[in-house]
Amino acid sequence: MSVMSTFFQVVGKNKLANKLALRFGMRFGAQRFVAGDKDAEAIKCVQELNNKGLLTMLNYLGEFVYTEEAAHVATQNCIKTLDIIHHNKLQSNLSIKISSLGVDISQEFCLSNLRKILNHAQKYNIFVRLEMEDYAHCQGTLDIYKTLRQEFENIGTVLQAYLYRTMDDIKDLNQYNANLRLVKGAYLESGQVAYQNKVDVDKNYMEMIKTHLLNGNYAGIASHDDKVVEEVVKFTNENNISKDQFEFQMLLGIRGDLQQKLAAQGYRVRVYVPYGIDWFGYFMRRLAERPENVSFVLKNLFKK
Ligand code: FDA
Repeated sequence: MSVMSTFFQVVGKNKLANKLALRFGMRFGAQRFVAGDKDAEAIKCVQELNNKGLLTMLNYLGEFVYTEEAAHVATQNCIKTLDIIHHNKLQSNLSIKISSLGVDISQEFCLSNLRKILNHAQKYNIFVRLEMEDYAHCQGTLDIYKTLRQEFENIGTVLQAYLYRTMDDIKDLNQYNANLRLVKGAYLESGQVAYQNKVDVDKNYMEMIKTHLLNGNYAGIASHDDKVVEEVVKFTNENNISKDQFEFQMLLGIRGDLQQKLAAQGYRVRVYVPYGIDWFGYFMRRLAERPENVSFVLKNLFKK
């Protein structure tokens, strides 16, 4: 983890920095990674992607909520996003963070918010994915997923390759026929719980993808890494794994070229489209991941 990464992770959790960033709006470059702070901007962004043959997953931004009131607002925002998807006939599902829905207040409270969202999504036949956040929320996310998976078909979650525990979770979730997004992992975690070396993360990542696919489960392979994409294409061809059993997932504003190329080859490609006013933490993680993104933002700072 670079010094720059650590800096942005820490700043991303700072409330004052968050407030200042919100006041300055999106003009520092966040608009490359975030559809906008208004519904209309999110709709337009998704329509443009859909018209290019790309699927999407909308995320109404928000995380680390500690009051019931804020969690209720986040729940309503998710429900509103489902209405937006349905009424505008968007080819999109919904991606959510349980820390925005009150899991840090109580698991029961969070479950009741999630049931409202999932029931609403079920009426519209929309799939909902629980994202994986920092390690402190990992077990809670999986417990909640397992509980709700017994009540709902339209739910999935995420596993992170940098955690030592993940191969065990892949095996455990096999009994739920889990629809999983598989990622390398985006949070700053200690060596007690997570690989610190990129080589180890990459190796574990391919192992989890292959195991999950060979178990016959659906995978969202969420990576911008050419090597990963190439290996997945080769592996699925060699093992006769249908293009219907997986999709490539990428973030808005990153590797648009690769998204289009894969879609043209008949692969299902889904773009993560975050929107809403609470974009600062998300934006900071994108900067922390890649120094090139920082220079992109700095250039924007000085543009008129
Ligand atoms: P990695 O960082 O390993 O880089 C490998 C190569 O990929 C680079 O050398 C470059 O070629 C290419 N690349 C990577 N980033 C690029 C960029 N910004 N621009 C151009 N090229 C780039 N994490 C998490 O903890 N919980 C979650 O729920 C999610 N959800 C999620 C959804 C989706 C759709 C995606 C794509 C990612 C996530 N993540 C996530 C983030 C994920 O864990 C990870 O941090 C990032 O995807 C970066 O890892 P990569 O495998 O993309 O590339």
